[in-house]
Amino acid sequence: MKDYYILAIETSCDETSVSLVKNGNQDLKTVTFSQMDIHKLYGGVVPEIASRNHLEKITLVLEEVILSSGLKLKDIDAIAVTYGPGLIGSLLIGVQAAKTLAFIYQKPLLGIHHLAGHIYAGRLENEFKFPLIALVVSGGHTEFIYMDQDYHFLKIGGTLDDAIGETYDKVARMIGIPYPGGPIIDSLATLGQDTYDLPLPLDDDSFNFSFSGLKSAVANLINQERKKGFDIRKEDLATSFQNRVITVLIKKTRHALTEYKVKQLVLGGGVAANKRLRLELTKLCQQLKVELLLPSIKYCTDNATMIGVVAYYGLKNNLKDNPNLDVCSTENLES
Ligand code: KG4
Ligand code: ZN
Repeated sequence: MKDYYILAIETSCDETSVSLVKNGNQDLKTVTFSQMDIHKLYGGVVPEIASRNHLEKITLVLEEVILSSGLKLKDIDAIAVTYGPGLIGSLLIGVQAAKTLAFIYQKPLLGIHHLAGHIYAGRLENEFKFPLIALVVSGGHTEFIYMDQDYHFLKIGGTLDDAIGETYDKVARMIGIPYPGGPIIDSLATLGQDTYDLPLPLDDDSFNFSFSGLKSAVANLINQERKKGFDIRKEDLATSFQNRVITVLIKKTRHALTEYKVKQLVLGGGVAANKRLRLELTKLCQQLKVELLLPSIKYCTDNATMIGVVAYYGLKNNLKDNPNLDVCSTENLES
């Protein structure tokens, strides 16, 4: 069978990423320019600055991938790009670059949903076995997605307010940890004790999440401690906070895995890099005899490789060339 090359572009938030993916499972070359250090100065991603930086970097990143791959743009079979959800100004840069290349080189243009990308990051190094449940935990999402075949997504639960990564970052900011605070909270949590009294967020039988109450509880706790003249013990707060989040995640995942009787659990998204979450899910899946797919750390946070992977399997499952592709900031992943 002929080899199939997809050039993929991802610019939904603050990473300008381009990848060349062969046959849906070989990452030939990925270049990602992270704007993290720029946004750190502001305590979070500033949309206008993000899109301006994508604009500055996109051609350089594209050029680096193509030049180092030894391929020519005319040899590529399709161009895939994240069309949403994400920051509109950021998405527009990637989609416009992809549209331009697709038009000039007369290639199919494939619009990819960002969450499908996070799920298919797990497909790079492993086969999918259906039915499966994907748990997508990122800066913008916390969702359970059920799949009974490739490129068919059914949302069975999601966050009602803040996403999990966003909550980590906001709690981190409250205790003076720079953006993105998630990985630092994860590390600090290994050093502290669970001494702070915090609530379990939406501890019910649904497959939904709600993290805003826990976030407010942390803010109140910090204020009360300061009023009493106490400093917050960052390690203990990180441990107490992370324990609540992981407890609820594991409880709901156990419920979802048993209710839907799936063969695999696929973890995806930036928070999939969380050491404690990986450990607890490994234990849970061993107990329930469900295979767990954990993406390598470099494929957890935003990257274009995952976009190239999902495009390949999408193409085999009704994903069509869309030369008039438009961006979308909020669309649900359903098909
Ligand atoms: O998937 P991603 O790169 O971007 C979105 O699609 O949102 O996820 C970024 C998020 C940030 O909120 C970051 O703090 C979080 O992932 N994150 C972590 C860890 N590593 C990254 N959160 C908790 N523990 C980690 N180890
Ligand atoms: Zn993401």
